[in-house]
Amino acid sequence: MSVNTAFRIAVFPGDGIGREVMTPTIEILRLLQQRIGGFELRFQEEQAGAAHYVRTGTALPDEAMARAGQADAILLGAMGMPDIRYPDGREIAPQLDMREQFELFAGVRPVRTQPGAPNPLADPRAQALDFVLIRESTEGLFAGRGHTRYDGPADRPTAAHDTMTMTRKGSERLFEFAFRLAARRRERGHPGEVTCVDKANVIGGFYFFRQVFDEVAARHPGLGAGHMYVDACALNMVRRPWEFDVLVTENMFGDILSDLGAGLMGGMGMAPSADIGERHAVFQPCHGSAPDIVGRGLANPTATFLSAAMMLDWLGDQHGVPDCGRAGLVLDRAVACAYADGSLKPAELGGTAGTAEVTKAVMDAISSGRAEVAA
Ligand SMILES: NC(=O)c1ccc[n+]([C@@H]2O[C@H](COP(=O)([O-])OP(=O)(O)OC[C@H]3O[C@@H](n4cnc5c(N)ncnc54)[C@H](O)[C@@H]3O)[C@@H](O)[C@H]2O)c1
Repeated sequence: MSVNTAFRIAVFPGDGIGREVMTPTIEILRLLQQRIGGFELRFQEEQAGAAHYVRTGTALPDEAMARAGQADAILLGAMGMPDIRYPDGREIAPQLDMREQFELFAGVRPVRTQPGAPNPLADPRAQALDFVLIRESTEGLFAGRGHTRYDGPADRPTAAHDTMTMTRKGSERLFEFAFRLAARRRERGHPGEVTCVDKANVIGGFYFFRQVFDEVAARHPGLGAGHMYVDACALNMVRRPWEFDVLVTENMFGDILSDLGAGLMGGMGMAPSADIGERHAVFQPCHGSAPDIVGRGLANPTATFLSAAMMLDWLGDQHGVPDCGRAGLVLDRAVACAYADGSLKPAELGGTAGTAEVTKAVMDAISSGRAEVAA
């Protein structure tokens, strides 16, 4: 059977700095394709987001979604603008619609510090953090969005109610994903320990979540399994984050903790992410459209480069194309090489380097072959 090595990538640059970080990311992916060979990326740009909503009245066109559904992977910049909203007051957030429609249940949020990059924690053990937070992305408190129930008069309600939903199916597939990831990480020297982050001492839904976790953990006796309340987890992410391996949690908790994770890496521009389902996957930086810095050349593209590396790794793994996986590793190492000597300091981390300088440093690491040796 012949292996498919040509991948269609649906690219949604989106809004604000999303567009600014996407252009150099595509440039780098093209360079990798040329240098490593053995796979081909065919990019298809799609329009969606807050600006598109203002222009057309539609945030995420059906045709773009249909094409994205046919693609092998989706690469996204950022979407949304704080002052562009639907009539009910909610922000335009097509990335959330995508998670629901494509059932992207596993939000993978690696927390990895780059040795050499400015780091907010003084402890030397924080210089090379490497753990992963997995955020359930189709259920939890977010599942009730758009369905808030109000009491009292419509013009001045007396209360608002939102619903949190946890299903057995949704929780089981999430935990299975977490244990599989922990097993894969253990092959690379990590402890192979999954921690369920919840609030099972107070909320019944979290008690259920924890029980399903324990059932799934029992199917993986070779891996470690533990629990932590979300408040303690927030504390420990700052006090001793080097002890974590794989954390798995509900949608809203994951939303909050992943920003804390980005803070541990120095800023949003350092934090990559992937939202993965059974067949589809979206790769995007954790950050938003950053209206405060848009158009100034200051956006840090590192998170998008690392998200693109995750995409190559996932494509290579899904389709059995080792060259594609290797390109992901080279891009990952190129980012590490760019920061290694301590001279590259993005504006976001208190330095002066903008999008162009960070891009040049990563491209140089690829073009010079340094990243390939390191990989
Ligand atoms: N997945 C997404 O597309 C996504 C995620 C978060 C927020 N948003 C949307 O983005 C808009 C702005 O949200 P926000 O301000 O809360 O979050 P944000 O992530 O856009 O910005 C938070 C802060 O981090 C900085 N920052 C973010 N990314 C950076 C980068 N790459 N380089 C340098 N600095 C960076 C910004 O300048 C800002 O000070 C909102 O409309 C929000 O809904 C979208």
